[in-house]
Amino acid sequence: MQADIDRVLIDRQAIGRRLDELAKTIAEDLSAEATGGHGEITLVPILTGSIIFLADLIRRLPIRMQIRVMSVTSYPGTATSSRGASIEAQLTKLPEDLSNNHILVVDDILDSGNTLRLVNETIKQRNPVSLRTCVLLRKTIPSAMSFEVDYVAFDIPDEFVVGYGLDYNDYYRNLPDIVTLKKHVYAGA
Ligand code: IMP
Ligand code: MG
Repeated sequence: MQADIDRVLIDRQAIGRRLDELAKTIAEDLSAEATGGHGEITLVPILTGSIIFLADLIRRLPIRMQIRVMSVTSYPGTATSSRGASIEAQLTKLPEDLSNNHILVVDDILDSGNTLRLVNETIKQRNPVSLRTCVLLRKTIPSAMSFEVDYVAFDIPDEFVVGYGLDYNDYYRNLPDIVTLKKHVYAGA
């Protein structure tokens, strides 16, 4: 697995430092919501790419919260560009009625925006008290930069990255750093 790494884009220490900052901002915003009115704080992680980010983020948020997962597929198998997003109903645990919930969507990366567009539309139809979105990475391309999100940990160039939850063909999620892969990995895909 290490032999497949081309270069480290963001290392684990940099991720940790940035999450300290980001979590502080998010905790302030969500606490203000919680004390300002009614409603539960509900985090909605998008499976599977957000799991490591989620685990590190929520342990930095000292607030009462629920977690309701959603599963969205957009990159089947060895594809490295979006093929249109669809919700996997069986792996999605989002209540039908969110009228008592402040929602924070947590995703790994904003690329074409198809995933978050679908997620946000689905959530809005369920009438949340508030809706915010948080991504670990955002590619500096027009489709991603023009999509409105509330929190971004890092902006990155338009390259395919893996590690820290992100996959290629469902591998490499367990790499602790965010990296690019050598060309030979994609050969034949
Ligand atoms: P979008 O729907 O095109 O914005 O892409 C979002 C989803 O595509 C993410 O949640 C990832 O699962 C996947 N994705 C996009 N870019 C990358 C990448 O560089 N590496 C790994 N997965 C990616
Ligand atoms: Mg994903």
